[in-house]
Amino acid sequence: MCGIVGYIGKEPAAPILLGGLKRLEYRGYDSAGICVADGGQLHVAKAKGRLENLSGMTDGGRTLPGTVGIGHTRWATHGEPNDINSHPHLSEDGKIALVHNGIIENYLELREFLERKGVRFTSETDSEVVAQLLEYYYKKTDTVLGALYMVLHRIEGAYALGIVCADAPDRIYAARKDAPLLLGYGEGCNFIASDVTALVQHTREVSYMEDGEVAVVTADGITVLNAMELPVAKPRQHIDWEISAAEKGGYPHFMLKEIMEEPEAMRRAISPRIKDGRLVFDGLQLGRTELENLRNIAVIACGSSYHVGMMGKYNLESLTRIPVEVTLASEFRYCDPIVDERTLAIVISQSGETLDTMAAMREAKARGARILSIVNVVGSSIARESDDVLYTYAGPEIAVATTKAYSTQLAVLDMLGIHMADTLGLLTAERYDALVCALQRLPEQLDAVLADCENIKHFASQYFNHDSVFFIGRNLDYALGLEGSLKLKEISYIHSEAYASGELKHGTISLIEPGTLVVALGTYAPLFDKAMSNVVEVKARGASVLALTTAQQRGQMEKTADAVMTVPDTEPMFLPSLGVVPLQLFAYYVALQRGCDIDKPRNLAKSVTVE
Ligand code: AGP
Repeated sequence: MCGIVGYIGKEPAAPILLGGLKRLEYRGYDSAGICVADGGQLHVAKAKGRLENLSGMTDGGRTLPGTVGIGHTRWATHGEPNDINSHPHLSEDGKIALVHNGIIENYLELREFLERKGVRFTSETDSEVVAQLLEYYYKKTDTVLGALYMVLHRIEGAYALGIVCADAPDRIYAARKDAPLLLGYGEGCNFIASDVTALVQHTREVSYMEDGEVAVVTADGITVLNAMELPVAKPRQHIDWEISAAEKGGYPHFMLKEIMEEPEAMRRAISPRIKDGRLVFDGLQLGRTELENLRNIAVIACGSSYHVGMMGKYNLESLTRIPVEVTLASEFRYCDPIVDERTLAIVISQSGETLDTMAAMREAKARGARILSIVNVVGSSIARESDDVLYTYAGPEIAVATTKAYSTQLAVLDMLGIHMADTLGLLTAERYDALVCALQRLPEQLDAVLADCENIKHFASQYFNHDSVFFIGRNLDYALGLEGSLKLKEISYIHSEAYASGELKHGTISLIEPGTLVVALGTYAPLFDKAMSNVVEVKARGASVLALTTAQQRGQMEKTADAVMTVPDTEPMFLPSLGVVPLQLFAYYVALQRGCDIDKPRNLAKSVTVE
């Protein structure tokens, strides 16, 4: 996720901005930039890659004079990571500089509007549109604040903005909607930042901007206005965190931070793709003729991304009636796959750099398949080599164990399935609306799941001492079990296996003995009764059962299971998007109890670039 910092005071701004950006590095980024206002001059420096590049290029900021400035670390969403796409973005006349965190959903339409007016763009980003639109309205209104309000009325999506203008070099403007931004109060200086980490070195007095608010920040004070342009009195908060804790945004581990970010990540994955109640995939060339021509879909991925593919098999097949085969990327190349020009290969990868997945993708391509990838890292190798890319917009994921990237991959794959079924004319209008509506509710339902985190922590404290755990479930719950089991084993080092419940009686049930921990997944309503029979089966052999089900089915499950975690009810196809979170939290708290190195489990790497 991008990071923003802004400073206005009496000291040279650039070194302070670089220091603030350094503290935001933990958020992940692929390029960085700063803009310093010096009288009526704006000095901009930007560089792809590590902050050291930017620092080296500006001699630690000393080559950029001025005591007012904004800085940014960019995590690419629109346009590959390079110097041009980095922030700050300048308006065409060079008078306005802007940094942005978030996604402007209607940027294409606004870009076309401005291009028709003769504006020339330099980058591929959604953010530059805001800088250019500001200039457009500034020329009409002659006040930056007036222009900013006009821009805010036109842009849709999420944003935290920091703005400086050469004509008003004694102030920074800030605005926020659905992306974090806070104000920092110093002595003879003031700040804006994405989070307190960037500021704690300079001040611990902050206030948090709310959606719709605009701030005008000078060295002597900060004025905050609401969406109606009326002044707002902001309560200040004192930050008493230690700097070391602040590096992970106050969380003890990146994994927990990333789990807590899931509602927001889900919102970013879903909302840009829903317009007026319809799913839209800009640029995706998959019309009815192409879909009717498909003989099969081949899903290719590794690890957790493969588990997303397993879910996809159930959901895509039932939605589109096109046969789906999910293959581990490391096996795909060597199994002489049935893939040709009539195959759609869906390649799933968080990093977009997993070597096995890349090699399998190239194999599918060589056999004539069309490649559609679902990727988190913009501009990564898999994204670049695909015919179509659907980005997940989960933001940077730092913990080795994937959490928010998995959830967003799942949501994007589900959305794709609904879109394909609709294109094929396989959904009634009512069914389509019900699915889109349920999809839109997921972020808030995820908030509700996270609110149960103390309970899950308690269950982890009860069960962390087990040496061996079985996850059982049917249909989507089986695929969910695969992910729950992987999460547990990779970070807690407990031996765990996932089984389709119906398979127990074909062998595995011989391993169930008094005290064995079975995590029974019974969220999938159509097969709930069958899930219950399996719970009874393992209970009869002495297993301890920790169950996961939905709020509606809880009462029934409580009659047999020893402990029950729940998620809100929704359309069955979306239940795994909610159900995975308690399993991620359970794995996290178990690993915590066992004193494991949660963010960097032994022998594992975040991006596996070897075969
Ligand atoms: C999951 O927690 C793991 N880190 C791992 O299984 C991962 O999903 C796999 O290596 C694939 O990575 P990718 O999505 O970046 O291709």
